[in-house]
Amino acid sequence: MKIEQFFDDESSTFSYLIGSKERNACLIDPVKKNIKKYEEKLNNLEMNLVYALDTHIHADHITGLGELREKFGCETVMGFQSNVSCVSRFIRDNEVILIDELSIRSIYTPGHTDDSYSYLLKNNEEQFLFTGDTLLIHGSGRTDFQNGNPSSLYNSLHNKLLKLDDETIIYPAHDYKGFKSSTIKKERLNNKRLQMNKETFIKSMNNQKLNKPKLIDIAIPLNLNCGIEE
Ligand SMILES: [Fe+2]
Repeated sequence: MKIEQFFDDESSTFSYLIGSKERNACLIDPVKKNIKKYEEKLNNLEMNLVYALDTHIHADHITGLGELREKFGCETVMGFQSNVSCVSRFIRDNEVILIDELSIRSIYTPGHTDDSYSYLLKNNEEQFLFTGDTLLIHGSGRTDFQNGNPSSLYNSLHNKLLKLDDETIIYPAHDYKGFKSSTIKKERLNNKRLQMNKETFIKSMNNQKLNKPKLIDIAIPLNLNCGIEE
């Protein structure tokens, strides 16, 4: 198995390429303007793209899902709550995407948005969790737009993600401070948002005064069409 991490400077987005032994690959949270980089990597690794998936509708970059489907004929996957018409497979909680020896399980983790999913990849003894914007390294996603909800986010974090094995490696969809990965154990011990009780967490999420993402008014409508302009 192979995991490659890509970073988009403009939106601080991480995208991931996961490849099987038989060289079939999946891209998670691909950014449209970086498709050339993914293509080069796929070519170098002699891999065939079979899936592209978004953890949720992104507000800060344009998704590569539509263009990847057009170029590679891959399946495009999102949660059914996202209601994105151009997706070829709508996923629900606890479904499995199989790529040869790899199994990627969907975990519905609403809160940052109402269509947020995390994906758990198992490979032999190791497991990797792609958390989208639900759990970030030393943080969590915001909850102030796209039907975000702090109480649901608290439940997703504590009752779903923190129930996974301590050694689970975490790969988030963003980082703004130079971190690249973490583990469930490290986050349980060091992530201040995870130390709060539910009431304090909800208050603190509701008191965040964050700027709107620069691209939100362009990105959301475009991403509802998999990033393709009509
Ligand atoms: Fe997001």
